[in-house]
Amino acid sequence: MRFLITAGPTREPLDPVRYLSNRSSGKMGYAIATAAAEAGHQVVLISGPVNLPAPAGVTIHSIQTAQQMWETTRELLRDEAPDIAILAAAVADYRPKFQHDQKIKKHQDSLTLELERTPDILGSMRQPFNFSGLLVGFAAETENLIANAMDKLQRKHCDLIIANDVSGSDTGFDTDQNEVILCFPDGRAETLPRQSKHDLARNLIQRLTALAFAIDKP
Ligand code: PMT
Repeated sequence: MRFLITAGPTREPLDPVRYLSNRSSGKMGYAIATAAAEAGHQVVLISGPVNLPAPAGVTIHSIQTAQQMWETTRELLRDEAPDIAILAAAVADYRPKFQHDQKIKKHQDSLTLELERTPDILGSMRQPFNFSGLLVGFAAETENLIANAMDKLQRKHCDLIIANDVSGSDTGFDTDQNEVILCFPDGRAETLPRQSKHDLARNLIQRLTALAFAIDKP
């Protein structure tokens, strides 16, 4: 099968030396890409800036900003139709409205940043990107995990949301382990208990390929 996977953070520039970003290490998305490639699938990975080696057998497109991730996704979907898309990247929801050409000087006692929304890649997959394969998003939440994940599942027309509690320090962002809850369109929620991100990724690839086959051949 053909996989499209996003991973890592985005960086939203403020001036030539500063940006807004988040704590995503890319480990979860890279583990998923590695597991898919090891299982013999064809994998394209769109990656934000991370300090991880490229997984063997995976085609990587490196980007910095949410806008670039959105454009790269659109172009890749124009060229070929993946069977499964897994959006594990921690994409910035907002970016500075103005990008300064020069380093901002500290003349004032306080500084107010005006932010604007970034493009929503997961929310663009069905429309306008016309992606018709198995669509899997993540939901990184610090409260009301399942309710917020189910809401994202519906609004973004996903086949599955992988709900990730990111309120602790030993799972979620920049950790080697993770615990997630799979949220399905029929309202079912299934916990995959804490395990290494690599074990979790292998488990996810098995389940997602089975799900894609089941949807393809009802
Ligand atoms: O990278 P690690 O350190 O290993 O950490 C893993 C992780 C916590 C980053 C990962 O498991 C995870 O939860 N990824 C999703 C992070 C996130 O941004 O969640 P969200 O609830 O804000 O976004 C929901 C979904 O929409 C995600 O699939 C996200 O990729 C996507 N999104 C969000 C904003 C945006 N502008 N475009 C998007 O496509």
